Amino acid sequence: MCYHGGGESIGRPSAGPDSPSRRAFSRLLLAGTGLAALSACTPAPASAPASAPAGIPAPTPGLSPGIGTGAPTVAASAATVPERTTAAATPPTPAAAPPSKAAPPKAPPSASARGAQQSLTDPTSPWVIVNKHRPLSPATFVPPDLVRSAVRLATSGEAALLNSTTAAAAEKMFGAAAADGVIITLASGYRSFKTQTATYGSYVRTRGRAEADTVSARPGYSEHQTGWSFDIGDGGGACSFQPCFAQQPAAVWAKANAHRFGFVVRYPWMLHEITGYYYEPWHLRYIGVQAATDMANRGINTLEEYFGVEAAPGYR
Ligand code: DAL
Ligand code: ZN
Repeated sequence: MCYHGGGESIGRPSAGPDSPSRRAFSRLLLAGTGLAALSACTPAPASAPASAPAGIPAPTPGLSPGIGTGAPTVAASAATVPERTTAAATPPTPAAAPPSKAAPPKAPPSASARGAQQSLTDPTSPWVIVNKHRPLSPATFVPPDLVRSAVRLATSGEAALLNSTTAAAAEKMFGAAAADGVIITLASGYRSFKTQTATYGSYVRTRGRAEADTVSARPGYSEHQTGWSFDIGDGGGACSFQPCFAQQPAAVWAKANAHRFGFVVRYPWMLHEITGYYYEPWHLRYIGVQAATDMANRGINTLEEYFGVEAAPGYR
């Protein structure tokens, strides 16, 4: 068995010198303003250049249903810069998983989940692993099959796009949630290299590089650029992109059910020393139903552990 991910470094990870510390994380959780820093996946803050096609979810409940809004869009269009929510943050009270300092390789995907071998490096593969040690290649990759998903949208333009596989899975998942009485919205999907440059740059300008690196990927290092990831909202803007989103019905439902549709919560609570980012209960990543279900059944919470690649707490 092997992955087509040549050159994989499978070994015990180590925390880099610039890894976010748990202490810093706790301080952040306790600091009201600091909580906003956890709006990691959110595109550029309000101070971002107007040209930044960010994709911050509008805090208003006015949603664009997005259903039947047109044929798939292959080329990403520039997005507007919606308002950034200013809702007060509330510290999260999730059942804290014991922090895992390292990501010792666990058993790789089970035989049933392996199915067709998937690449861990090709950005068109649902198993591509993008983190602070694993930039996209090429850095300016654009998914060839970007489409506008027929789900409730809380964003527009480029940020409303996903790759076609992820879009189809999202439609099923959002529909199932709705059938359970839970509204989930697409708050931020595809993000181009250019958008990520603006987003990350805004964080650096407003908060400094060290803090920016704990919440926003550098250009060329964001899963959003693959089309396999997106951020969810709940339709009302409650705790949008803030830690307390973990207690909102959309996040609770997604955490319990996302694997049935091929998704994982990519940046779990207190596993930033493996993933490189603080808790993002809104950021989902498609890896396929078999693999996501396998992870859930085996209690493996990060892609780094599941696929046996090193932890990536910081940039090298
Ligand atoms: N917030 C995630 C890590 C991103 O910027 O892609
Ligand atoms: Zn995200």
